[in-house]
This record gives sequence, structure tokens and C-alpha cells, in this order.
Amino acid sequence: MKRLTTFILALAVSFQAFADEGMWLPNLIARRIDDMGAKGCRLSAEDIYSINKASLKDAVLLFGSGCTGELVSPNGLLFTNHHCGYSFIQRHSSVEHDYLKDGFWAMSQSEELPNPGLTVSFLERMEDVTDVILYGWEPSMGDAARDSVARANSARLEKEVAVPSKGIRASVEALYYANQYYLFVFRVYRDVRLVGAPPSSIGKFGGDTDNWMWPRHTGDFSIFRIYTAPDGSPADYSPDNIPYRPRKYFSISRAGVKEGDFTFVYGCPGSTREYVFSDEVRYIGEVSDPQKIALRTKRLEIQKKYMSQSQAVRIQYSAKNASVSNAWKKWQGESGGVRRLGTVEAKRAYERRFAQWAARGPYEGLTERLAAIYARREPLYLAYEYFNETIRSVEILSFAWSVHSALELKRPVESMAKGFYKDYYRPIDEEIFAAMLDAYRSNMSGDYQPAYFKEQLALYGSVEAWRDALFASSIFSNPDAVKALTPSDIAKVEADPAYKLYKAFRDWLDADIMPELHAIDGELRAANRQYMRAQMEFEPERDFYPDANLTLRVAYGKVAGYSPSDAVYYAPVSTLKGIMEKDNPDIFDYNIPQVLRDIYAEGGHEKQPVCFLATNHTTGGNSGSPVLNADGHLVGINFDRVWEGTMSDLVFDPDYCRNISLDVRYLLFVIENVGHADWLFKEMDFK
Ligand code: ARG
Ligand code: GLU
Repeated sequence: MKRLTTFILALAVSFQAFADEGMWLPNLIARRIDDMGAKGCRLSAEDIYSINKASLKDAVLLFGSGCTGELVSPNGLLFTNHHCGYSFIQRHSSVEHDYLKDGFWAMSQSEELPNPGLTVSFLERMEDVTDVILYGWEPSMGDAARDSVARANSARLEKEVAVPSKGIRASVEALYYANQYYLFVFRVYRDVRLVGAPPSSIGKFGGDTDNWMWPRHTGDFSIFRIYTAPDGSPADYSPDNIPYRPRKYFSISRAGVKEGDFTFVYGCPGSTREYVFSDEVRYIGEVSDPQKIALRTKRLEIQKKYMSQSQAVRIQYSAKNASVSNAWKKWQGESGGVRRLGTVEAKRAYERRFAQWAARGPYEGLTERLAAIYARREPLYLAYEYFNETIRSVEILSFAWSVHSALELKRPVESMAKGFYKDYYRPIDEEIFAAMLDAYRSNMSGDYQPAYFKEQLALYGSVEAWRDALFASSIFSNPDAVKALTPSDIAKVEADPAYKLYKAFRDWLDADIMPELHAIDGELRAANRQYMRAQMEFEPERDFYPDANLTLRVAYGKVAGYSPSDAVYYAPVSTLKGIMEKDNPDIFDYNIPQVLRDIYAEGGHEKQPVCFLATNHTTGGNSGSPVLNADGHLVGINFDRVWEGTMSDLVFDPDYCRNISLDVRYLLFVIENVGHADWLFKEMDFK
């Protein structure tokens, strides 16, 4: 317990952090409030987070399982991103009512559309429960015992605190690499209805061409409303439900922002790794990212070739192409960023200083141990990642595996098959099959190739010959035959060449890769826990924020442009004029709705703000987060970062790291002029 006490002491002292870097725990925001005040914030720590009175935290919500949203009315109205609401908007869409394409606007509460399965969660409270979670564990019992004690205690505490009948959910999360454990208690609402969404030509304007980029002009928002049982408690959808009455909702600022203004983002960042050892950054920046980028470049080229030849194929592959492209672009910024910053070298220099300090103390040899663990882990993890990006990304192969799993569970496969083939274009998959298998063969050494893979390659002589034979004989080339499969046909699937290839890889991973990888990961968890604690002792002056893990955080900074390269400067605010400059009916991503052209032609809208940049430290999961001004009023909705700054998941650089937000005034402009849904303004509070 002594170590733990020192650790907590280290946390209690607050000193400098680096400019605008940080995703801070809201319950400890008192430690940052002076710095926030010095940068322009006019709020108190209690305004931001309180468990005794209504505070801004009560207006922030986890939307679904990976986005953030915010309340903007006393009637449970909320904003999030268009890309966060996308799948729900899509589910309500049909050929007659294409809400993705045309947008959707309820004109009264009775027209709002329910979304079974969609939940929103509000944080009730968060607290340090480290002692409870480690109760029964002593250092002499070892690291494996620590993990299992923590797991059992977490499960017990979560069960004790949760009240499912009242929608109260509890989860224990590890912070600072499990040096600390926090309990998060949420209220979860299950009746969340779609209120409004702009057409995709606004909500997804710029598409993947502009994704992760500035200048940006995407109206990335959608609007929902939370409903409760008549007594105010969380409930499943019912026509008798009433709008949620929140403790707190955001006022909306019409004053807008300008360069230099203080802003903060209140939301749920998903995952960062700021304190890891140099070898992990080297692996990500120099090995993993470049390899995955190369593989995805091939896949994207193949998809794009066929998508540009046919409108039908473009529709089939637009969502798939978007998700392949999203990480592909992010990784380019990330690996380029750590290279530009020399992060690996900087970390190594830091580690040398650390090792000197650690000599003859309890952390002696820790950096060597970390280096040794990473050296053993790297080839195994790379093989696993390579499998994911190659074999698993061939649609027919992973689909064969899913069908087999369904049949094994005696589930019908017809609707699954319908869904799969609706968006499947065999020529794309055939080309990707050859490209991915070829990449696997040339880039993974023989030791990392399953025996079956080598045998089949030898048998066919080339990946192309193998492909032709496989696609000619596989049942998965025949949609009708797949739709008709029943559990009694499972042997047929097991004899299929697509299934056999996928299974050969899975068996090989399960036997030769994963057990060792899991064992190494256990060692790594323990070593990282020590290393985190040691760094905090090594730098007692530094205020360490915990790495992101989808728990609620506050990031603060200011509205600022940046210079992406020599002689180029990007101003931080984009306007409607820029949309008109990009507008092009022949380019899908830039083809705006006619109504926007007409409004613009009336004149007077050139300066209408659309998006803005700021220095807030955000990551995936912060999508939909409220962007707030010095008084805590809503000025924007976070939806992206600039790609030159995406290494901020590993290292933050104030010169390049910028989050991209939708200016809330553009949202209001679209509601009024495109949706004609200004009935919604009556319930909002404008400042
Ligand atoms: N880059 C943003 C986020 O990760 C937006 C992604 C959705 N938009 C798109 N054009 N694919 O994750
Ligand atoms: N678009 C991201 C999301 O979905 C946010 C972008 C990022 O900062 O990674 O959360």
C-alpha cells in the first residue's frame, strides 16, 4: 500500500502542464481551474462538475456507445454529429423517404422517430475506488493475482451499485494504467427519437475527400430528443412517454467565436497513449501505420476504380470505403506527425534520464524490461494486425466465417446473407483477395504463414490462380445458395475453400500467436503500470492527466489557425463562401442541395460561419462533444481533427494539433433555412 500512497500524493500536487495539452477528469477540474481562468474561462470548478447541484456535466451525454452529445433544451433536445446519428437516419430511410439523401425534419414532437437500441447515458457521479478494487490483494501475491482480484471486485461493485430497473448502470474503469480505479455511475435512457438531420450533402459535405482536413465545411450534426416514462424515469419507447426534463442544458451563444477565444470541449475521448515507452511509438509510427496504410491504399484504389465506373457500386461501397479511408488518413497524419516531431528520439532521451534517476531504486531495470517485452511482442502483434488488414478484409472470407458461426448457433442465415450481398460486388472482392494474399505472402516471413496458406500457394502456383479456383468453386460466390443454407448444411460450409482459408488462419492464430501474445500482454500491463507510476514520481512537478478511455473529460484551449507547411497559413474560421467555392454538381462529395445555392444567391450570407479550429486536445469519441465558450455556452460541436495533428493520441504538438468544430450558428442556419424547423428554436435558450 505504501507505493499507492506515494502515487496518490503525486496526484494531489498540481503544477504546470503543457500548453493546451490534456484531457482532464471533470471531478478534479479544480486543479486546472486557475489555468483555465488565466486563459479566459469565467466558470468555477463547481459550475463544470458538481454532485451537489446542477452543473454542466448534467448536460453532457454519451450518445450510443462511442459518441458524445449535449442537451440544448428543457425538453430533452440534444445535438450530436451527423456521422454519429448516421446509422439511425439510415435505418429510417427507404427509397420513398431517403432521409440520408434528403434530410429529415420533424415538424412537431409527434413526428419524431423512435430508434430501438439507441441509448444515451448521463454521468451521475465518478469516484476513486482504488482501495475497494484492490481489497484482498497484496504485492506479494503478484501481478496476475492483482488483475484477477481487480476484476472480481469490479464486477461485484458494479453489480452492487447498478439498479437496472431505474436505468442506473455502473462501470469501474482503470486509470493511469490501473494504478487507479474509478467508479462511474450512469443513468441510461432508452427512448431517444430522431428530430432532425440535414441532407448528407450538408451533414457529410466534403465526404472522405475533406475528412480530417482543413479548410472544412461539413454541417456534421443531427438532432434527437430523449423521452422518459411519465414519472421521469428511463423507459423503453412508448407513445405515453414524455420529453426528458434535464437538470441542466446548454445555452446557445449566437455571439460566435474568433481567433484567440477560450474554448473547452466536454466529452468522452476514446483512447490515447501519451505515456508509453518509445518502442510502442516506434512500432506504431514506423511499422504498423505504414504497413496498414500501404495495404489500405491498395484496397481503396481497387474500390475506387469500380465505384467510379458505376453509380450502383458507388452506393454499395460508400460506407465501406468511408470506414477504410477514415483510419487510413488518420494513420498518415499520425505516423507523419511522430516522424516530424522526432517523438521516438525524444522519448528515448527521456528514458535515458529516467533510467539514471531510477538506478539503484525500485524501478531499476524497468526500461530494459519494457524494451525486452516490446521486442518479443512486436512480430506477434504485427502478424495479428496483418491478418486483420489482409485476410479478414477480404469480404468473402470473413463472411464465410460469420455464416459458419451462425449455423453453429443454429441461427438462420437468410437475412444476414441478404444484407451482405446487397452491398457486395464480386469483382472488387476478387481483386482485393489477390492483392491482400500477395501482400501477406511477400511481407510476412514463412514463420508467420499458416501451413495451409503455404500449401495452397504451392498447389496453385500464384495467388491469381488460387483466387480463380476459389471464387469459381466457393458456395459464397452464389448468393441464392448461401441464403438457402440451414444448420444441417454446416459440413458443406466446412468443406468450402473460402471458409477453409479463413479457418486455417484462425486456427494458426489461436495456436501459434494469441496464447503467447496474451501472456506478453499480461507482462506488459504490469510493466506499464509500474512505468506510469514511476514517471509520476520522476516528474513530481508535472500534472499527469490519465490517458483517454471513453470516460468524461474536459479539454481546453483557444480558437487558433495553424501552418501545415512552409509558407502556408490556415485561418481558423470557414464560411459559406467556401462551400460555394467547393460546390460542384459533378463531384459527389461537393454537390450541395439546390436550396443552399438559392439562399446564397439572395446575397448577404458570404460571411456565414461554418466550422472553426481550436487547440483543444480531443480524439475519437469526442465526436458530437459540446464546444463551449468562457461562460459555458455552446459555440460549436466537435467532429474531427486536422490530419497533421492526429499524432495527438501519442504526443501533443501545440503547433499542429487542432480539433475541428461545427459552428453552432451554421447549425441554426441550416435548421432555419434548409429544414424550416425553426419551431425548435422556441425551446432553446440563446445568449
Ligand atoms: N474523421 C472523423 C472521425 O473519426 C469523421 C469520420 C466520419 N466522416 C467521414 N467522412 N468518413 O472519426
Ligand atoms: N470523428 C471522430 C469521432 O468520431 C473525432 C475525430 C478525432 O478527433 O479522432 O469521434
